Amino acid sequence: MPRCANEQDTGHGLGWTAPSPFTIRLETPRLVLRPYELTDAPALYQSVAASRDHLLPWMPWARDGHTDTDASAHYITTQIMALRNPTAFTAVGIGIFDRQSGRHLGGTGVHGVHRDTACAETGYWIRADAASRGYATEATGAVLSWAFRPQPADGLALRRIVIYCSSQNHASRRVPEKLGLRLEVQQRQDYFLPGLGCTDRLGWGVLADEWDCAANRLATGVPSA
Ligand SMILES: CC(C)(COP(=O)(O)OP(=O)(O)OC[C@H]1O[C@@H](n2cnc3c(N)ncnc32)[C@H](O)[C@@H]1OP(=O)(O)O)[C@@H](O)C(=O)NCCC(=O)NCCS
Repeated sequence: MPRCANEQDTGHGLGWTAPSPFTIRLETPRLVLRPYELTDAPALYQSVAASRDHLLPWMPWARDGHTDTDASAHYITTQIMALRNPTAFTAVGIGIFDRQSGRHLGGTGVHGVHRDTACAETGYWIRADAASRGYATEATGAVLSWAFRPQPADGLALRRIVIYCSSQNHASRRVPEKLGLRLEVQQRQDYFLPGLGCTDRLGWGVLADEWDCAANRLATGVPSA
């Protein structure tokens, strides 16, 4: 059954397309998730600069990316341009902000969109001095609900989301585990990380029908992994 007006079997898959216009603003008890604006560049740079050791080796872009405010502004400009062209949409980076203070806390998003299956990937990072307070889990729950909501309800109407991480990334593993997602794959020695070499890639998946978008958690009755 189609999940959005533009989803149909084209003979080459479902032919999923992004909503147009493309708007994102997600609120959770403690967080606001929204696309970056150019004025966020200093805060984004500072979050990465203060967290490089924490982000590496898990996020290789943290080594050479966001080297100064201009580099962060360039990244944000690329994101803004991508959102203006939903027909070419394959990925979006979303900032995670403290709901009360507006402080930038980290990033998430959706990437690796497959139009034939309406599937995509999500990921996350939280600045070092805000880690281990449940922010990544809270943000990811909201992103999953946004990804699965029908497009007339300001969602993406995707069918499946997967989260990949290295078996060695114990903090990251806890996020899909706490959300109750199903561990679907363990690809042995498939994830190269500088300093750690080839590690196993773990993948957790969840389907739209298994997710309660109002509660930002697995639907009642779906066995938690
Ligand atoms: C992974 C990351 C996003 C988690 O963000 P967070 O807001 O701290 O996540 P949460 O607080 O929701 O959950 C973190 C869990 O990991 C646990 N944890 C943190 N550091 C850990 C470590 N070194 N070893 C084992 N568990 C750890 C926490 O105790 C918590 O689990 P708990 O709630 O059962 O106690 C954050 O650590 C980060 O940005 N890491 C660097 C970037 C990264 O690895 N991104 C993911 C790439 S796949």
